[in-house]
Amino acid sequence: MGLNPPVIDMQPNMYKIEGESAFSYLALVKKMQGQGKRVISFGIGQPDFPTPEHIKNAAKAALDDNFTGYTETQGIEELRSAVSEYLNFKYGSDVSGEEVVITPGSKTAIFMTAASYIRDGDEAIIIEPSYYAYAQVVKLFNGIPKFVSLDFTPGKGFSLNAEKVEKAITKRTRVIFINNPHNPTGAVFDPKDLDYLMEVVKKNNIIVVADEIYDNLIYTSKFKSLITYPEWRDNLIYINGFSKTFSMTGWRLAYLVARKELIPRFNDLAVSLYSCATSFVQKAGVIALKGDWGPVKNMVKEFHERAKVLHDILKGAQGFDVYMPEGAFYMFPRVSGILNKLNISVKGFVDMMLNKIGVLVLPGDAFPDKAGREFVRFSYATDMESIKEGARKIVEFVNSL
Ligand SMILES: Cc1ncc(COP(=O)(O)O)c(C=O)c1O
Repeated sequence: MGLNPPVIDMQPNMYKIEGESAFSYLALVKKMQGQGKRVISFGIGQPDFPTPEHIKNAAKAALDDNFTGYTETQGIEELRSAVSEYLNFKYGSDVSGEEVVITPGSKTAIFMTAASYIRDGDEAIIIEPSYYAYAQVVKLFNGIPKFVSLDFTPGKGFSLNAEKVEKAITKRTRVIFINNPHNPTGAVFDPKDLDYLMEVVKKNNIIVVADEIYDNLIYTSKFKSLITYPEWRDNLIYINGFSKTFSMTGWRLAYLVARKELIPRFNDLAVSLYSCATSFVQKAGVIALKGDWGPVKNMVKEFHERAKVLHDILKGAQGFDVYMPEGAFYMFPRVSGILNKLNISVKGFVDMMLNKIGVLVLPGDAFPDKAGREFVRFSYATDMESIKEGARKIVEFVNSL
């Protein structure tokens, strides 16, 4: 008998996965605030707006109607149709309601994709810096994350280099995870680069997992959704959700789109995993898509204003290389000037700012793998006054170093 009781020995991949920094820092900030300390947080990535009234009312009405039992695993037909109509209207695609699976959050859809495709030793290309969950699910299913960095141009920001992705492809490459608009950089990829990428994946028989959860939060006209490619059914698993667009992070509602033959497989996995997404939340989802988009438009306008204000203030910070984001609600300046001056890591710098001036940003290397190690992420999903105050404190602090 070994020294450890058997519950200690989880399957080895469980020891390879890592938690999410944004959530650990959220807990830390809450603790500091509980101790009476003032902290301005540019940490967690969730809209600070309430969920629009008409969406909340739809959930309340569904509760009052006792729409509280299990639903079909794939999601109620009404919502799946609403999703397909919405995508087809927005992107001119040809998705049918039968090709949509409703999930409790995009994270669940990401997990299901990895569970469905990653075989032992398969390589998954992850465009970095990356949303942290991709690498975790790849490792969990015995895959190998292969990071390919975005290109960085000072003053301009990050861009997709599809040739670099092509060069990283091997015989073992199975999946490419791509998030556009991009967390953490705020980049929106050039359609030309996406066209090239799609050519490459077709040529090499690779699956693309397209996470487009920020597709309504853009300040540029150049966004192209991968669901618009006529041959999407051959290479694409498409993921999107309600969290960011409708300020519904806590509701846990999202969807996965895939060709029809795959749906029974995803359903069988989903029924083992979560049975169905929350019933009355699905009803609210229908109204979110079909109801008034005014609140979303106002939110995006406000995010854009905040980005401009944050950018203008941070320009004054010595050692910061700032550029305007094109989408999402993140700014990702390079801070190598400061790190070199102080000879510290980005995590050291983030902790220093939190402790000395009570302002939280996230270290860029919290977005695997290493490409973000000289950057910090600001989520400007917080009120304008806090943005101004927090940014000014940072400028004052770094300029005094
Ligand atoms: C790129 C990306 N994908 C997925 C998610 C998770 O979204 P959900 O709330 O739908 O699980 C996030 C949340 O921050 C994200 O940034």
